[in-house]
Amino acid sequence: MTSAPLLEVDGLVVKYGPAVAVDGVSLHVEAGERVALIGPNGAGKTSLLAGISGLVKPSAGRVRLEGRDLTGRVAGEVVRAGMTQVPEGRQVFPTLAVEANLLLGAYGREFRRELVSATVRYARRRAAIADRLERVYTLLPTLFELRERPAGRTSGGEQQMVAIGRALMAEPRLLAIDELSLGLAPLVVESLSESLVRLNEDEGVAVLLVEQNAVLALDTSSRRVVSCCPARAPRSSATRRYGTPTSAAGST
Ligand SMILES: Nc1ncnc2c1ncn2[C@@H]1O[C@H](COP(=O)(O)OP(=O)(O)OP(=O)(O)O)[C@@H](O)[C@H]1O
Ligand SMILES: [Mg+2]
Repeated sequence: MTSAPLLEVDGLVVKYGPAVAVDGVSLHVEAGERVALIGPNGAGKTSLLAGISGLVKPSAGRVRLEGRDLTGRVAGEVVRAGMTQVPEGRQVFPTLAVEANLLLGAYGREFRRELVSATVRYARRRAAIADRLERVYTLLPTLFELRERPAGRTSGGEQQMVAIGRALMAEPRLLAIDELSLGLAPLVVESLSESLVRLNEDEGVAVLLVEQNAVLALDTSSRRVVSCCPARAPRSSATRRYGTPTSAAGST
């Protein structure tokens, strides 16, 4: 018997009122895999991630992580089950130091409904969290150099590193990144992309990279490319150049 994929999304529908943003998308990510999800503006990529990670309740379809049904669960539960997300536009806390931003990733994993018990759980895991922080600094050494600086006073690329580091502090088995390359210079993107490959190869963390930048998605960080979401978005010229995606997400 084959084991369940790490992430399995089946016929997911996300609506905003009557507007359908994601129309029955299916995809899967295997443990330790790197997958890129490409699609143009407005294709529904962010909405799909929101539906998977519990930020928006899907109207239909199923989300499973290692076979466990997480459809419509709150975001914290999805994080604790092993998937964290780097949001589009980074969304760091600008007045907090870089290290405080990172620690919030670990704290967020403990947070359910109630501050006091989350803080107690966090305090109990202090040694493990310190180890985790070391690992994040080893993977992204720039963050160590910047650890005392307010995150809002770092560059766009550095903020993207903070957002990735913060997500890693929650110890995911699957890291979903919404637009790694957004607004960043090509060299910065290349360096971030190399860090992701290292993370994937050294620590076995699966990566789901959501990108408009198909060339980046195809060239640097992915083993498998999925186009999102064919019913809404035509195949891009980059997809044609590199051939048909090996597996397609789309309307069912
Ligand atoms: N909160 C919202 N309320 C209503 N409609 C929304 C909301 N968020 C997104 N949409 C709509 O859903 C559709 C998909 O948007 P989404 O942001 O998921 O696309 P995307 O593929 O991530 O685009 P981009 O590449 O620009 O980030 C769009 O038509 C958008 O206008
Ligand atoms: Mg988006």
